Amino acid sequence: MLSHHTTDCIVIGGGVIGLAVARALRRDGLRVTLFERNTQPGGEASWAAAGMLAPQAEADAPGVLFSLCAASRALYPAFADELRAETGIDIELRTEGTLLLAFTDEEVQHLVEKRAWQTGAGLRAEPLTPFEAREREPRLSETIRGALHLPDDWQVDNRRLTQALVASTFRAGVDIHCDAGDIQPIIEKGRIRGVTALGKTWHAPLVVNAAGSWAARMSPELLRLPPASVRPIHGQMLSLHMQPPDLLRHVVRSARAYLVPRRDGRLIVGATVEDVGFTKQVTAGGVARLLAGTIEAVPLLADMPLGETWNGLRPLAEDDLPILGETDVTGLFCATGHYRNGILLTPITATLMADLVANRTPSLDPLPFSPLRFSKDMNQAHS
Ligand code: FAD
Ligand code: GLY
Repeated sequence: MLSHHTTDCIVIGGGVIGLAVARALRRDGLRVTLFERNTQPGGEASWAAAGMLAPQAEADAPGVLFSLCAASRALYPAFADELRAETGIDIELRTEGTLLLAFTDEEVQHLVEKRAWQTGAGLRAEPLTPFEAREREPRLSETIRGALHLPDDWQVDNRRLTQALVASTFRAGVDIHCDAGDIQPIIEKGRIRGVTALGKTWHAPLVVNAAGSWAARMSPELLRLPPASVRPIHGQMLSLHMQPPDLLRHVVRSARAYLVPRRDGRLIVGATVEDVGFTKQVTAGGVARLLAGTIEAVPLLADMPLGETWNGLRPLAEDDLPILGETDVTGLFCATGHYRNGILLTPITATLMADLVANRTPSLDPLPFSPLRFSKDMNQAHS
């Protein structure tokens, strides 16, 4: 006979998304239990990321995803302050901005087009000559043909962010269980009643699936999405030690690599984008491509010592949009599919999910992100 626990809400997955949603629900006064499959939370994509808060650098056109990303960026200064007040952990929000580099005519044209639609939308995007770009970052290559400064595309240290979210949720009384093993839903009459996990029954009227790239790998009943709706996109990363430690101050991006300088002198270099299933390995070819992109942008970095290499899996939804909201099972919610912007999207996801759970009107239309957009496929996949 299984022992029983009762709580208000269960969150599955302890990455930045699950942790931030748990924190927001707890702040709304709910009792929250979080299950993480690994030995500790925050060790997957949320740990592997570069921490760029880059709606403008990442987007090629306006749209619902861009608006969500921009809204989340605006929440970051207050989010960082709150986390520091709650935990003492500084997530190192850096606001020097991002420099996009062009090395070819085609890349120059791409920056011209990006600037046009972004300034048209009222955003700041300042074109720079190569000379002006090197005035801002003197170590940039002599071979750049043009640059765009995005003063509002920032960065945080995502590993510190996960630490801060773990500390915040723990202190707020979220009940965190690691090594969670298989989790099965309890669904009765179209409504979630809780889950079985760790050999026990956990009763709750609300369950949030925030299992990142694995969200569609669990019991399909728990996800209520077709198995192919979320898949992993592999990214390889490496770090260098800058000498001096402030050799770069901006995030620097080209079409071949991005360089993210941390306050402690590490330079985070990313990233490959590989559709290779759940295989996770750092390869010679991946590292070679990243280093070539690095040295092309800042030749002096060829002399800097290598730090770590690592990798992670970005959760990508079939239609490239995050999956946020209630499924066709009452009380069963999803928060996944954040792909290349999950660090950026953490605060807006938490706010939006808490609003939806509490039946408050969110600040943004949640409909484009609803899991219900997959319901037809789900019914076909499981019929
Ligand atoms: P994850 O961090 O993967 O967390 C999911 C958690 O669920 C994991 O801890 C996992 O163990 C757990 N889990 C899985 N299955 C189960 C189960 N059955 N039961 C319980 N727990 C389970 N985003 C940005 O905004 N800026 C960036 O610069 C950036 N750079 C990136 C670079 C790389 C190389 C990668 C890989 C990603 C990057 N991203 C970036 C994207 C961002 O990291 C992700 O979108 C974000 O971390 C997703 O968070 P998550 O909590 O959904 O997933
Ligand atoms: N947003 C950076 C990446 O996904 O690599």
